[in-house]
Amino acid sequence: MAEKNEIILSGIRPTGRLHYGNYFGAIQHFLKLQEEGYRCYYFIADYHALTTIVERVDFYQQTIDMLRTYVACGLDPDRSIIYRQSDLPCTAELTLLLGMVTNIGHLERGTTYKDKLSKLPERRDGTEGNPLSYGLLGYPVLMAADILIVKADIVPVGDDQRQHVEMAMDIAQKFNARFGETLKVPAPVARNALRLPGLDGSEKMGKSENNTLDLLDDPKTVLKKLKGVQTSTDPLPLESESTDPDVVIPQMPASVGALYRILHLLAPEEVYLDFVGKYRRGEKFYGTLKTTLAEYVSAFNAPIIERFHAPDNTEEYVKEFLRENAIKVTPVALDTVEACRKAMGIGHSLYRA
Ligand code: TYM
Repeated sequence: MAEKNEIILSGIRPTGRLHYGNYFGAIQHFLKLQEEGYRCYYFIADYHALTTIVERVDFYQQTIDMLRTYVACGLDPDRSIIYRQSDLPCTAELTLLLGMVTNIGHLERGTTYKDKLSKLPERRDGTEGNPLSYGLLGYPVLMAADILIVKADIVPVGDDQRQHVEMAMDIAQKFNARFGETLKVPAPVARNALRLPGLDGSEKMGKSENNTLDLLDDPKTVLKKLKGVQTSTDPLPLESESTDPDVVIPQMPASVGALYRILHLLAPEEVYLDFVGKYRRGEKFYGTLKTTLAEYVSAFNAPIIERFHAPDNTEEYVKEFLRENAIKVTPVALDTVEACRKAMGIGHSLYRA
């Protein structure tokens, strides 16, 4: 059981709009931990967004919009330290130091990197070499620096980030083994961390997959997206009597399963059970499922959309708390960087001393 004095840290890339995977995989836990009174650090990972950049993107504006959505969801810059990764540039210094204890082989086994490598068009070894960036390969080292710099105990993330957190644990352990106990090793990601499937039935809802349901989607968009979900495949028989979503949903066609997953997250249990019953009996119900689900989604989004547009939730407000919170997190972060410098033998920074 976590103690209240444990430190929480998590980040989200500024991809534009927040989707249901971000919310139910991460933000709902951010909110709970904030309510429970933990020391929470929540940031927008704008350096990470650069790891796949091919042309200029207005990450500044996307960061502001994401932060206005954070606020609209209930994250409170007076209770949680909410900041922008690039406002803590000593993260880049820690990344450099941690890079010295990170094996390239370990990074090459990273799922994100391997996935991007496998998707390269006609990748040929040899003359053309590997066109992926050093920044992308080093993504997990930067993420380890984010986590270790604030001495985080718990990292609330979706299941897709599990390997990255394990890499951070591993990097901290290696550092401590080589240079003496310096870094706090965070706990592994919770076993039941969520991986929400995409509306296209693919394994993961994600911005780049274009299969998301977004927190700022209005009712018309929600209905359009849900109506577009592929439900023409015949229902697959359910093999057991269980109604547990982790048992039932994997037995359904993937895109139907995605609808049930979201229904289970939003609707009262009896509504979910009623639709499982309909499925089991093979009734014709997909139209009703989609319209019912659309109502729950729109009702969930409505207050968030309203708070997103609230007159005080402006760019100016966000800039002000970013500045204040960057000032709060900086001494904590510098303390870690200085400890690592000292442990590695280069000694304290002379200009910061
Ligand atoms: P990112 O921006 O891809 O996602 C942000 C958060 O949303 C969760 N998430 C999901 N959870 C369940 N189902 C999904 N379909 C889904 N899609 C996204 C992610 O698990 C994550 O919690 N590398 C991170 C950002 C990061 C970070 C960190 C996180 C940078 N440094 C340090 C924690 C600690 C990322 O790209 O998340």
